[in-house]
Amino acid sequence: MASFLYLLFFFFSPFLSCSLASSPSPSPSSLIQSTCSLTSNYDFCVATLQSDPHSLKANDVKSLSTIAVTMASATAKSTSRYATAQAKNATEAAAARSGFRTCAEKYRYAGEALRSALDSLAGENYDYAYVHVSAAQEYASACGRLYQRSSGVAYPDAMAEREEDLKRLCGTAMDIISQLG
Ligand SMILES: *[C@@H]1O[C@H](CO)[C@@H](O)[C@H](O)[C@H]1NC(C)=O
Repeated sequence: MASFLYLLFFFFSPFLSCSLASSPSPSPSSLIQSTCSLTSNYDFCVATLQSDPHSLKANDVKSLSTIAVTMASATAKSTSRYATAQAKNATEAAAARSGFRTCAEKYRYAGEALRSALDSLAGENYDYAYVHVSAAQEYASACGRLYQRSSGVAYPDAMAEREEDLKRLCGTAMDIISQLG
């Protein structure tokens, strides 16, 4: 009986519901859990999808894949902007600026590939969507390879981190797209 009252108190305690509402990471929806459990990095997948409030309203795997690709697209765009700014940054050596110019172009292509992926998802052409996301991942790798080859200077950590971010997002998006169709 005492434990029953204790439970009642917990279920109806306004303090508890208040603290739940303000909790920064509520437990993921069952759709997010089941979708992310089929990806290679469950924790990253959950954190990524939950960081977008649209995921709360997502009611199918296709919507979650669109969210992941949209986030990858935003990362590609911001990386392209960063590389473009560094290519014009007079503090950087001329060789480094040339490497950044190459990377700005590759990340622009990555952004275009991800926009094509979103079109393919909208048209339910899941195989094409997968290939476009894979291309975006390949453009990020190409930036790393070509930076060193074309500039002869070390690949900056800031770019290596952005490359990792984009590849991880693309990998998660591909793992989700694989569940469609
Ligand atoms: C220019 O490059 C230097 C060296 O990498 C960096 O410290 C500085 O923040 C950059 N300036 C801009 C405007 O990004």
